[in-house]
Amino acid sequence: MVQYNIVLIGFGGVNRALAQLVAERNDLWQSELGFRLNIVAVTDLNLGSVISQNGIDPRMLVETKFEKGGFARLSGGSAEADNEKVIRQAPAGIVAEATFTNPQNGEPAVSHCRWALESGKHVVTTNKGPVALAARELVALARRNNVHFEYEGAVMSGTPVIRLAKNTLSGAGLSAFQGVLNGTSNFVLGRMEAGLGFAQAVQEAQALGYAEADPTADVEGYDVRLKVVILANELLGAALKPSDVSCRGISSLTAADIQAAAKDGCRWKLIGSAARRKDGEIEASVAPRRLDLDHPLCAVNGATNAVSFTTDLLGAVTVTGPGAGRVETAYALLSDIIAIHRGSRGSLAKEAA
Ligand SMILES: NC(=O)c1ccc[n+]([C@@H]2O[C@H](COP(=O)([O-])OP(=O)(O)OC[C@H]3O[C@@H](n4cnc5c(N)ncnc54)[C@H](OP(=O)(O)O)[C@@H]3O)[C@@H](O)[C@H]2O)c1
Repeated sequence: MVQYNIVLIGFGGVNRALAQLVAERNDLWQSELGFRLNIVAVTDLNLGSVISQNGIDPRMLVETKFEKGGFARLSGGSAEADNEKVIRQAPAGIVAEATFTNPQNGEPAVSHCRWALESGKHVVTTNKGPVALAARELVALARRNNVHFEYEGAVMSGTPVIRLAKNTLSGAGLSAFQGVLNGTSNFVLGRMEAGLGFAQAVQEAQALGYAEADPTADVEGYDVRLKVVILANELLGAALKPSDVSCRGISSLTAADIQAAAKDGCRWKLIGSAARRKDGEIEASVAPRRLDLDHPLCAVNGATNAVSFTTDLLGAVTVTGPGAGRVETAYALLSDIIAIHRGSRGSLAKEAA
């Protein structure tokens, strides 16, 4: 039996959903995928940390109502989240990093990834920070240590855009992409089309749980900008920083703009895009764009995301799917682990219990 020991860094929505999937689906994964997952350590800023040589019951982890510092109640537990010690010392082959996204310098997630890779552990993450701001360093570090740094969930949660473009479309001549990469702003635009003002539409998005209390990162395009950096660097070989990508959000669009577009048979979408110019430079931007109704991204409604790749041999290839959601994003972590399993059969199997 192949069993991969994993460490969860951050125990919020995404890693909790992963623990729930482990509790419910290990037997299925064993027969369908050829491996099981065993959670041997968890750290969380609020709950503390716990390490267990033999594994922690995932059902207990998700069903127990832990108070602040509550992991101290568990055998091998502590009220402190000593991330470096846990990452370096846990008897695991894979670290799942799902702490908050820091768009300034990616910390502390960049350090979490660094510690894991340095100690010979694979990293799977849904956190845009380390991927947008330090992917080059972390990929090189992973190579030197003969492990993987995988981050499918950083752009469209479980919808497989990175691996699809990198692996399945390799050789098709990918030269550009455009995407609707933020569900909150897309939902807000849809509600404005239905007649709401910008502020009212944002309030509705907040009431439905699509928008955070501070919606700035979503509506001003900063979240999309990180995703554009990730896709452009990964798929077009760029070396962009967020400040290289011009960025305008949807807050300046008025009801009159929306209605005028509708009259002309068009719709506004917040588009993150990048393209390789003739001189080889990569041009990238985030801005609201008026799209014709026959544009592949025009019909992407509500909180759904989509990205359309421009290729030489296939023309436009468009992928649509969820761009958020706890289970959907936990699935991205599983898909990263599947990629590791398939890419390093043998070496990881040695780590298996
Ligand atoms: N949820 C989604 O739909 C989605 C989709 C794509 C990508 N992502 C990304 O995936 C990551 C996780 O998302 P999430 O929804 O699970 O977020 P979340 O619910 O806010 O969970 C993050 C958890 O990490 C903990 N944490 C923060 N700093 C930490 C540290 N230094 N050490 C240990 N734990 C720490 C937080 O504790 P406190 O609560 O005490 O701060 C919280 O429990 C984020 O980077 C997010 O941007 C999420």
